[in-house]
Amino acid sequence: MSDHCQYSPHPTAQQLREWINSANALTRKIIEGLAPGKELVPQQATLNPPYWEFAHITWFHEFWIHRKGRQEYPSLYRDSDALFNSSTVAHADRWSIPPLSIESLLRYNNEVCNKTSELLSKPLSDEDAYFIQLVIHHYDMHNEAFAIMWQSLEYPMPFEPYSVSTKTVFNKKFIEFSKTDMTLGSSTQQGFIFDNEKWQHPLTVEPFAISSSAVSNEQYREFVLAKGSQALPKHWKQEGGVWYERFYDQWRVMDDQQAVRHIHYEDAVEYATQQHLRLPTEAELILLMATNPNDWQASDLWEWTSSPFLPFAGFTPDPYLDYSQPWFDGTYQVLKGWSPFTVERMRRLGFRNFYQTKRNDIFSGFRVCRL
Ligand SMILES: [Fe+2]
Repeated sequence: MSDHCQYSPHPTAQQLREWINSANALTRKIIEGLAPGKELVPQQATLNPPYWEFAHITWFHEFWIHRKGRQEYPSLYRDSDALFNSSTVAHADRWSIPPLSIESLLRYNNEVCNKTSELLSKPLSDEDAYFIQLVIHHYDMHNEAFAIMWQSLEYPMPFEPYSVSTKTVFNKKFIEFSKTDMTLGSSTQQGFIFDNEKWQHPLTVEPFAISSSAVSNEQYREFVLAKGSQALPKHWKQEGGVWYERFYDQWRVMDDQQAVRHIHYEDAVEYATQQHLRLPTEAELILLMATNPNDWQASDLWEWTSSPFLPFAGFTPDPYLDYSQPWFDGTYQVLKGWSPFTVERMRRLGFRNFYQTKRNDIFSGFRVCRL
């Protein structure tokens, strides 16, 4: 039996129905909330045309749940594979597709959702349950991607965050870990997983000391000012002696104690090196995050690790071949944690997020370890 049919247990049909409906409703709310003209975005590597992205999300939904990942099975939208398959439509070409009618995209989305509703009223095979969960996570990740894109574009916040970091008591405490035997990766018994989590394997982590909180705005500002004002993050400004940071379309007085965000990997490494510290590995950050949440401070950010995004031993791709495999080229780093716009069901310790080292549009921060 294929790996992906063995991820168990899976949620009830009622739970899957709730999740897919709410995830899709959020995508539609984001798209329908765009002010006229705002669907046109500049052609940049970190952006996607929003209507194209919405079409792609619906296409992915239909392709995996109803077409079983096979182009020979008909689609409800003409030429959908040629237009909306992210694996084959080059990034730059997404801007040269003829204008998409939002009405026809909403209709396509409705029709696909109706088919899923029908499917969910009958007994589900393990494979159906897998693909429904894959599609739900795909909505979730694109919804977060919209939140990231809207922040970059200085648009209003597209939806309420799932969590707001309320702990602002920053401290410089390091937590000591003794030599630990642990496991990394996931097994078939942990519910839905992504292929890059295969498989659970033992690992011994040498003693280390990790900061209980992520690097703060104040700490990072001292570091960056020493380098010169040209090194300031783009979402920062100083006016009348007061520091501000931009959150969507608003400038807010900077909270010195909050974790610094929108930092890319290379700047995080430079900060750590300059302080005679280092970034934690993926395993070290997992060990910290697995301890009592009262003992360390969550940053509500994706935190960079020093671990490149590489397959674990025994990796094989699941049916969505392009989820992980094309990105194992050593130019991506693993991030752990979650952002305010990460839905609860995605906040699994086993989840391995990964981005290229220059990405600072994401809600990313970092913490440090002693050398
Ligand atoms: Fe996608």
